[in-house]
Amino acid sequence: MKVVAIVGSLRKDSFNMQLVKTVEKRYSHLFEVEIADIGSLPFFNEDEEKAPSAVVQNYKKMIAEADAVLISTPEFNWSISGVLKSALEWLSRVDKVIAGKPVLPMGVSQGALGTVRAQLHLRQVLSSIQANTMPPAGNEIFIGSAGQKFKDGELTDEATLKFLDLVVDKFVAFVNEQEIK
Ligand SMILES: Cc1cc2nc3c(=O)[nH]c(=O)nc-3n(C[C@H](O)[C@H](O)[C@H](O)COP(=O)(O)O)c2cc1C
Repeated sequence: MKVVAIVGSLRKDSFNMQLVKTVEKRYSHLFEVEIADIGSLPFFNEDEEKAPSAVVQNYKKMIAEADAVLISTPEFNWSISGVLKSALEWLSRVDKVIAGKPVLPMGVSQGALGTVRAQLHLRQVLSSIQANTMPPAGNEIFIGSAGQKFKDGELTDEATLKFLDLVVDKFVAFVNEQEIK
């Protein structure tokens, strides 16, 4: 199974990137993770959507060929980051490569709420672009107080890792179910 990960923060030491790297390593027996470099994408521009640059074409192809997509979002001003929103806009138009694609949202912040508000917006956007988002009940990965839960570039908090194991198992089953349908 091939999963493309989109990280909504471009920061070098991003906790969201650290979460994705943790997922990549911890579940390598379940799926392969490829991280999309959304920092290299131009801002979405409708004038270019029918003949976008090579970097956009490659990004869209990567998503089109993935079995599933994982999105790890920071919370910026009670929402998702502009860079993530623009990256999703490219996927939402012309060939709409994210439509029907299984998506697992997750997010990390340094505050207590762990991206609750950002993920509500993210789910709204994913709904608009017809992604097949993992149902929220029991599957919401909100990681707050990041400074205490990550060490040496990895998520190390045992309780959070245990919860992640449960959700990832359910997500793999969800993806396989969609492929049978
Ligand atoms: C522009 C900006 C706005 C932010 N707004 C929020 C916010 O609304 N809620 C929150 O919990 N944290 C907010 N933060 C803090 C981020 O959650 C924190 O910087 C987090 O570590 C970002 O994710 P990253 O580690 O992946 O870069 C904001 C940070 C920035 C730079």
